Amino acid sequence: MSPRVVATVDLGAIRHNLHQIRARAPRAKVMAAVKADAYGHGAVPVARTLVEAGVDALAVACMEEALVLRRAHIGGQIALLEGILSPEEAAMAVYEQLDVVLHDHWQIDLLHALGPTAQVRVWFKLDTGMHRLGFPVEDVPRLQRALTEHPRWQFAGWITHLACADDPDDPFTPQQLARFSEALQGVPGPRSIANSAGLLGWPQTHVDWVRPGLALYGASPITTLPAERLGLKPAMAVASRLIAVRCFNAGETLGYGRHYTCPERMPVGVVAIGYADGLPRAVSSRAEVAIDGQRLPLAGRVSMDMITIDLRSMPNARVGSTVQIWGPGLPAEHLAEAANTIVYELFCGLTQRVQFQHRNG
Ligand SMILES: Cc1ncc(COP(=O)(O)O)c(C=O)c1O
Repeated sequence: MSPRVVATVDLGAIRHNLHQIRARAPRAKVMAAVKADAYGHGAVPVARTLVEAGVDALAVACMEEALVLRRAHIGGQIALLEGILSPEEAAMAVYEQLDVVLHDHWQIDLLHALGPTAQVRVWFKLDTGMHRLGFPVEDVPRLQRALTEHPRWQFAGWITHLACADDPDDPFTPQQLARFSEALQGVPGPRSIANSAGLLGWPQTHVDWVRPGLALYGASPITTLPAERLGLKPAMAVASRLIAVRCFNAGETLGYGRHYTCPERMPVGVVAIGYADGLPRAVSSRAEVAIDGQRLPLAGRVSMDMITIDLRSMPNARVGSTVQIWGPGLPAEHLAEAANTIVYELFCGLTQRVQFQHRNG
């Protein structure tokens, strides 16, 4: 049985992208975001590759994601970006030696309740304007006191997160940077600011630690700076197959809602991928796929299991041909734009029906 939709993840590309990231921020340590199943690329193989390539730390959203990695015997620093949510998670963080990113005083209390002998590595997240998670910057002196009260806690550093770094001209980023550095003036401890957009577009955010996610997977969050120009390699290629080739006369319509009308007699391909695989329905008649490098437009609605494509520029395409949905030479960013979404959502949206293959591990 051959799979319908295959996502091939090139772990060599992830190593390459880590190398590029290090070259861009040579003095910073790298905390690699592998949350959300490594942005849909497979948390365990990606994390293993990064650890073997010498990444300084991994970051996940929550305890469940960290435990997946620990159970796969992935050692080293793993940070919980949302911190701990219960007394059980506090104890588990200590037991599993996870870095806890604390964003509120009730989380400090959860660790405090473990008693004076608990050893844990903590980060403090400051809210400099994202207004999602983080202590108000005015709390810095209080946080410093919490550290002196808990001498067994190892302090990892101060974190903040940027709201608008994907726009290289947005004045909010310098404002956030100013708030962060003012709040921490004269305060010891490593600093971490940059996500991928900061890393790629704002060198002043690099400081002690960078926290890239998307760039590791070979995509760019900045529309004016495409990944290829930044020297990043897309790590994921998604492909399906042609399962039918038909020919229709001018005026005949394709698929649900008769969304596409054939302008002339034309060959039409049916490809075995649909929104149940993670291809957004919003790209109906708006995106391109490719066969042997030749780009072919979608013609008609994306349905649950299939799309129809215009084969006029490739009339001899055959059933069984591989159809590239995104990957090297066909950036996922273009498809995301056609779907009016971001590439993060495309990567995370692939469903269990897609078969994953990891290469160059
Ligand atoms: C706190 C934090 N740091 C770093 C990242 C990585 O971001 P990106 O994938 O844009 O590099 C994220 C992702 O959302 C995050 O929430």
